[in-house]
Amino acid sequence: MSKAVLAYTGALDNLICIHWLRTVRNIKVVTFSGNFGQPEYLEEVGERALETGAISAHIADMRERFLHDFCFQALRAGAKYESGYVLSSALSRPPLAQELVRIAREEGCEYVAHGCRGIGNDQVRLESYLQTLAPDLKIVAPLFELGLKTPEDDETYAKRWNLPRATNRKMRYNVDQNLWGVALQLGPRADLWVEPPDDTYIMTRKISDAPDKPSYVEIGFEAGLPVSIDGERTGTMDMVETMNRLGAQYAVGRLDVIEDRISGLKAREIYEAPAAHLLHQAHTALEELTLDKDVFQFRDVTARRYADLVYRGKWFTPFREALDAWFDVIERHVTGTVKLKLMGGTSLVVGRQSPHSLYRSDMLSYDGDVERAARRRRQIDSEHGSRPPTTRKE
Ligand code: ARG
Repeated sequence: MSKAVLAYTGALDNLICIHWLRTVRNIKVVTFSGNFGQPEYLEEVGERALETGAISAHIADMRERFLHDFCFQALRAGAKYESGYVLSSALSRPPLAQELVRIAREEGCEYVAHGCRGIGNDQVRLESYLQTLAPDLKIVAPLFELGLKTPEDDETYAKRWNLPRATNRKMRYNVDQNLWGVALQLGPRADLWVEPPDDTYIMTRKISDAPDKPSYVEIGFEAGLPVSIDGERTGTMDMVETMNRLGAQYAVGRLDVIEDRISGLKAREIYEAPAAHLLHQAHTALEELTLDKDVFQFRDVTARRYADLVYRGKWFTPFREALDAWFDVIERHVTGTVKLKLMGGTSLVVGRQSPHSLYRSDMLSYDGDVERAARRRRQIDSEHGSRPPTTRKE
């Protein structure tokens, strides 16, 4: 009998996948559930898979790798899609695909299955990653084959086959949460004019509940990556969890946008990404100080392209590797500290410092920079035969 590894979240639609593969397609199912920082308790999720007929349930803690190898790379690259989506969902797909392939090999699977319903972003990404990493594996999408389109369709199927009730959170939205952020999809009938009610948001507290007193936080970076909070060395996960807590308290990192999907259709998306928002903001502030003008301006172009490639499921490509090589070079001197001030619903950059600062207070004035700078230059040249750089030469 052939075997499939299923990307499995524990939701009812995924139980349907197990049931259908086993009973209709006569395929043995092993499941994989990765902990990316979503709130579900994965041991319980695994047990439900076994109850529904899976022969084994793999669980792995993906958090450190996800943040360090994917989110922080994207952070260094300033990658935000269109109006500011930090790509929390999109960035979790490459490590998910890697892990699915690893398990498929280990378990001798011929198939990889997933619970996407149509040609949405997630399906395009996951399938293109699987095809890149393991072209020999066959991909099967049970919900798509079954023609199940809505949660109501799922309920009907579950009743008919007497599947265990999914105990996952009942949500008005399609939620995809991890440590880098949460995506809340409002669904096709969402009125673009209507403000989402406050209880839509699940990571950040209400803006009106944010503390009255502002908070300050100092984030230290080395070569474009965040390494410390308030002067204390901080590991990857600790960094993101701490910034998520702080940002959530001040309700920062919310986004309500219209987004261009891979298919070309526009969709309204709600996001919350407190840590990613604060880290991107601080990182950009440090780049302003340490990158010279040509690099800083061109970095914008490359950051956009980086975001776009992540969005379109092109992580495992020479283009991404080449862009990372560019960022290896330009981020070398993005080292220093940025001070942020958090107040109800917003955060501001209020301080920055770097040993590689290109800011020259000695050459700057409110006006007449040119004349003053020229005079200063002549003076320095005559004293030292050189002048302090405002452009980095490497
Ligand atoms: N629009 C976002 C993206 O394409 C979020 C997708 C979230 N996925 C989900 N199953 N809710 O990356």
